[in-house]
Amino acid sequence: MQKSSDLFKRREAILPKGVGYFTHGATAVRGEGALLYDADGRALIDFASGIGVTNIGHAQSTVVQAIKDQAEHLLHACIHVATYEPYLALCEKLAELLPHGDATKVFLTNTGAEAVENAVKIARQATGRAGIICFTEGFHGRTLLAMSLTSKVGYKTHCGPFAPEIYRLQSPNYWRYGDGLSEAAFIERELRRFRQALVNTVAPEQVAAVLIEPVQGEGGFVVIPPAYLQGLRQICDEHGILLILDEVQSGFGRTGSWAAYEHTGVTPDISTWAKAMGGGLPIACVIGKAHVMDACAPGTLGGTYGGNPVACASALATLQVMEAQNLNARARAIGETVRTRFLAIQAKCPLVGDVRGIGAMQAMEFILAGDKNQPAGAFVKEVLTDCLAKGLLIISAGAHGNIIRTLPPLVITDAQLTEALDILERSILEVAFGMPR
Ligand SMILES: Cc1ncc(COP(=O)(O)O)c(C=O)c1O
Repeated sequence: MQKSSDLFKRREAILPKGVGYFTHGATAVRGEGALLYDADGRALIDFASGIGVTNIGHAQSTVVQAIKDQAEHLLHACIHVATYEPYLALCEKLAELLPHGDATKVFLTNTGAEAVENAVKIARQATGRAGIICFTEGFHGRTLLAMSLTSKVGYKTHCGPFAPEIYRLQSPNYWRYGDGLSEAAFIERELRRFRQALVNTVAPEQVAAVLIEPVQGEGGFVVIPPAYLQGLRQICDEHGILLILDEVQSGFGRTGSWAAYEHTGVTPDISTWAKAMGGGLPIACVIGKAHVMDACAPGTLGGTYGGNPVACASALATLQVMEAQNLNARARAIGETVRTRFLAIQAKCPLVGDVRGIGAMQAMEFILAGDKNQPAGAFVKEVLTDCLAKGLLIISAGAHGNIIRTLPPLVITDAQLTEALDILERSILEVAFGMPR
């Protein structure tokens, strides 16, 4: 009996079904760089990074050492009880890397969902308004407010009632909803629709914030057109509405810059970050314009563990590694290689409806018979399973699981990248054309 199948059997016996998984049978014992070793001792090329976390690679030595050093000094204090330097150093570094205007303030949480929840509380306190506008294809987490803001019904059916004062508009997803318009005309139409929503859906003086991912992650790597974000910024400014950008999946090098919003010329009032920030330990943050962040009453933000000292040390070392290795440039190079290969696969496989992404965040959307309304989710599931058998761990996205996305560690070598793309191409073509495997 293989150890992986043993582990998986134990998982199915003890974990509730609600804790889902992407690929049946994937296990992990140890990681190194862009490789994960499974319970059977097999090396897998990691194209998932624990859903976009290990941008600096697995078991990065500088980060591991920083964690050990900090653990020997202070495991926990709680920022509400005693001030400790790693918390401050990390916030200072984040404000330096990601300024939100002239004066920026930062505070730390444990997860992306918690960061989003707090961003909403901050926006409400700063404006005295309750409404939040969010988007289809958006994902913001699984706590109840974050889930209320999340679009995909598959994540939330029967979990409600959901939080009130949430208004959801259609994502400016040009490929899906473009209706044959030019991109410029599409953006103009979507911004017009947004303005109409402030007349026929919710009054602007009731809206605290607009919340959007600059690149929708779980939604399938939908890059929000820069002109749309610029238009949103303008509308927000006209009405005193705050703009919250959720960078939990797109942040920290993934798109080839620290923030995906840096590609758009738009600065948010508030932004949320997690995942890659901690290098593998759970830590997240909210960054915002100082006058917005300071509008909150003492006691309304925080928690026991947010900004735990060991997680802070890990995050600080992670940011140092990202800077020293210039992982933003590496993400751009990875993205070019992946995109070129994806376009070549699209030319060979009629099921590839769209190739899209930015930096190392690239995706292919699979559809049947060239019809955007026939998502090929079962096909993608089979491809992911076949990739795992061939030594590549890769995950899907989208409401129908019909999008294959790439989230490799940004330290992946060229040889590993080529091998991974070879496996993926072989799997797609073999499954699509029913070839023997
Ligand atoms: C854009 C975005 N926001 C929020 C979250 C929630 O983060 P967490 O799983 O750390 O709560 C995610 C997680 O995938 C995400 O992609």
